Amino acid sequence: MEQIIGYIQAGTLQPGDHLPAERKLADFYQVNRSTVVHALDELVSLGWVIRMQGSGTLINEGNWGRSTMPRVDWRSFFTQDSSRKDPYAEKLQQLLPDPTAVDFYSGELPLSLIPDFRFPSYTWEELLLEERKQGALGYQPLQQVICERIKREQKIEVSSEQVLITSGAQQAMFLLLQVMLQSGDSVAIEDPSFLYSLPIFASAGIKLYGVELDNQGMRIDKLEQLILTKKIKLIIINPTFQNPTGTTMSEKRRLELIALSQKYQIPIVEDEVFSELNFQIVPASLKELAPHQVIHLGSLSKIFGSSIKIGWIIADQDLIQRLSEAKQMMDFSISVFPQVIAYTALKDPQFEAHQKKLVQTLRERATDFEEQAKCIAADWEISTICGGMYVYLKWKHQKLTRKDWDVFIKQKVLIAPSFLFSSDTMAMRINYTRMDQQNQQLFFERLQKISTELRRK
Ligand SMILES: Cc1ncc(COP(=O)(O)O)c(C=O)c1O
Repeated sequence: MEQIIGYIQAGTLQPGDHLPAERKLADFYQVNRSTVVHALDELVSLGWVIRMQGSGTLINEGNWGRSTMPRVDWRSFFTQDSSRKDPYAEKLQQLLPDPTAVDFYSGELPLSLIPDFRFPSYTWEELLLEERKQGALGYQPLQQVICERIKREQKIEVSSEQVLITSGAQQAMFLLLQVMLQSGDSVAIEDPSFLYSLPIFASAGIKLYGVELDNQGMRIDKLEQLILTKKIKLIIINPTFQNPTGTTMSEKRRLELIALSQKYQIPIVEDEVFSELNFQIVPASLKELAPHQVIHLGSLSKIFGSSIKIGWIIADQDLIQRLSEAKQMMDFSISVFPQVIAYTALKDPQFEAHQKKLVQTLRERATDFEEQAKCIAADWEISTICGGMYVYLKWKHQKLTRKDWDVFIKQKVLIAPSFLFSSDTMAMRINYTRMDQQNQQLFFERLQKISTELRRK
């Protein structure tokens, strides 16, 4: 199909030209005749060729009805429901509105902690004027403010031409897959990782391989083994307060990772959506350590909630240019509205104070959790919380199966079991930021009951 489209585009095949008979094509490509029929059917449905009774297959006369390749409908992959296909995740989803359930599963801050801003009212005309500041890479004032923040928070010096605004970090990742990889390519991620069950990889035909983590982050020796056995084209990593384990990669590991990626010439995508929710100083970002080797992703979802859907990619200018072209081709354009809202919130004089207060509250919630969690320490190994949103609890006793986790559903304690992130069935992710005085007590009471039941199994 690609070759025929290529010949038409290059003019080698002209409108009205006949394609060879199916049998001849099958001989030529050394494929089964039914494969040829299938490819021609696709070309007909895409409008490149037409079938005429009695005169075979001809090149279509014009552009009407033509499209290039059958593309997946990406929008369906970002809808709330389609990204939660696992039956357990579906059950969780159904329980979310239940007021008697306690939700430590959702991946965002509770509403009470999301900074509240008053937005200035815009007239229609003023908004249209703002629209003029929208370039191919996004709303320019927002790009600018992201550059300033990145420089201040992460010591990364970038210009606006290196920042592409996207509709969230997930869309950023999808764009990168489309531009940098081909169907059948392999990508290394952490094991466990929230990327494990995202449909964007499967839909693009990308194979995911997991690399074991320890308390310093991804094991570089294991990564090298993987690179040597599978043809890894890209490494995607969430180095700071990793989702789901909360682990932060040490500086030593970061340097080793960069050295490895340079040795094998494999680019790294650094997903840094949690780095601002830090109670302690975090190691330098990978982008700071190796500006040209690393593509940096950020998002506002973890501060403002996922409905804002604003994210960004920071990379070298030529890659940003390609990504921007792909974005336009796929009609990924983002309206100026959420961008103006994001800009206003980030520029609000109260923003820094809100942010400080938020981090302080998270620190208190983390300390409180760790203190209360002593009552379950005989059954669960608990990760240390240094920032971010998640704490990871590992069951200390017998092997658990997927089915054992139904007891959480029965008790209406909503958590994310590790099988949503890996093939492992022994641990769970808890969003501790959602724990206030009220639901914390409920959580530990119910968890103690659950643990007793699990021990009996
Ligand atoms: C580590 C990580 N990266 C990216 C995303 C997606 O972010 P966005 O909502 O901006 O698409 C999430 C959301 O859960 C996440 O946990």
